[in-house]
Amino acid sequence: MAASLIIWVASALLILGVLTQRHWDPWLKKAGYDRSAVSWRWYLVGFPATALRMRWRWKQVCLVNDLSISRTPTRAVLGDLAVRGTSLRPIPPRLGLPKLTRTGLVVRVRLQPGQTPHRFVMASEALEHAWRVHRVRVTTPRRGELIMTVTAGDSLRQPGKNGQVQQEPEPLMSARVGRIEDGGEWLLDLRRVPHWLVVGATQSGKSTLVGAWVRRLAPQPVALVGIDCKGGMELGLMEPRLTALACDRQQAIRVLDVLVDVMKTRMAVCRSAQVRSIWELPEDERPVPIVVLVDELAELYLSDGSRESRDEAMQCSTLLLRIAQLGAALGLHLIVAGQRVGSDLGPGVTALRAQLGGRIAHRVNDSSTAEMALGDLSPDAVAVAQSILPGEQGVAVTTVGARWMRVRSDLMSTEETRAVAARYADQTPRMPALSAAVAGDGEGGEAE
Ligand SMILES: Nc1ncnc2c1ncn2[C@@H]1O[C@H](COP(=O)(O)OP(=O)(O)OP(=O)(O)O)[C@@H](O)[C@H]1O
Ligand SMILES: [Mg+2]
Repeated sequence: MAASLIIWVASALLILGVLTQRHWDPWLKKAGYDRSAVSWRWYLVGFPATALRMRWRWKQVCLVNDLSISRTPTRAVLGDLAVRGTSLRPIPPRLGLPKLTRTGLVVRVRLQPGQTPHRFVMASEALEHAWRVHRVRVTTPRRGELIMTVTAGDSLRQPGKNGQVQQEPEPLMSARVGRIEDGGEWLLDLRRVPHWLVVGATQSGKSTLVGAWVRRLAPQPVALVGIDCKGGMELGLMEPRLTALACDRQQAIRVLDVLVDVMKTRMAVCRSAQVRSIWELPEDERPVPIVVLVDELAELYLSDGSRESRDEAMQCSTLLLRIAQLGAALGLHLIVAGQRVGSDLGPGVTALRAQLGGRIAHRVNDSSTAEMALGDLSPDAVAVAQSILPGEQGVAVTTVGARWMRVRSDLMSTEETRAVAARYADQTPRMPALSAAVAGDGEGGEAE
């Protein structure tokens, strides 16, 4: 009697707490409690309800999506006929116990003999609808087993502010530029993936992401070189922290020329030290890594049909390709942003794209852009990129190898960006040859 009274009172308090959550949320926030990290509504109501729904609908979903097997053969001979039928007792794979996570749950599925993960990957959208969750990701950590990672709601709905992200110093060449769908930090590591391609329609968030990247690299001993042929409007905000900023195509060609010379000098250094990359040199002899940021690639490739403009586009293409092909071991990295990166821009673009191993696609207006950016690495990611809505600025799909994930970059105001550039301006590595290339006086001296 007493026990059931306690259970009733506790349940009533819990339900009351959930219903009045929006009233006590501000108080918790003031006390330093981060609601985005833990959602009480999910812990108390969402998780148990979803776990029950999953178990309740599992057999039916498996049957409808052809995820069950039959112990008895589904083909038989009837007189002179070979007939094929549906099993009366289909056996679904074993669904494990769901484990609660910060953003949803994780559940293990034991495959039946003869089953492959592919069918489950294809059925993940059906599972999302049947379980009424935001996303179901299927991965295969071990043979015969699947892990289904269920995300309850879209954690990327709210734009991220830089202040919400942990402010720990990052490892050299790494940058925490935003959030991943599962609530984790989105870390981009140029040591692991040296060159990146960022695509998206206009106003989809490309420059914001490049800005977030620059801000995170700003405190590190890295030279940042900007090529922003939209008159330097985007990267110009970070100019105090940039070693060089090219704002038109002639400047870009001169800057890229100097960077190719820098590569040759570094090659000679590595050869004489008998090492295969600058990272194997002793720290005090290692040249500073250089990150080249290109905002709007098309501006470098566009041609008005004149011979001069065609030559310039060709020069840009050759120089960028050389940096992409040889730069990684020599500490030269490329981050290239553009609305379209297809062969329609000119020869050499597809070769450049093939060298940019990291891919990030924001909202796109046509399927071919998503296909160009993601299709060759991760065909599954193409449909996800196409499902990004116009209101979801900054949301993107990124792939590394065949894996993909949904992410959102951090947003910072123009004033804050300028303040970051000013704070780290005195850490900007000086390279006279690059400054001379931007000025166009050709008196810069040695490349490095
Ligand atoms: N992560 C984000 N969160 C919220 N809003 C964002 C985010 N990223 C971008 N935006 C919004 O989208 C607008 C356009 O972003 P941005 O300038 O980066 O787009 P873009 O792809 O570079 O466009 P364009 O091709 O025209 O240069 C920004 O002014 C900002 O308001
Ligand atoms: Mg832009």
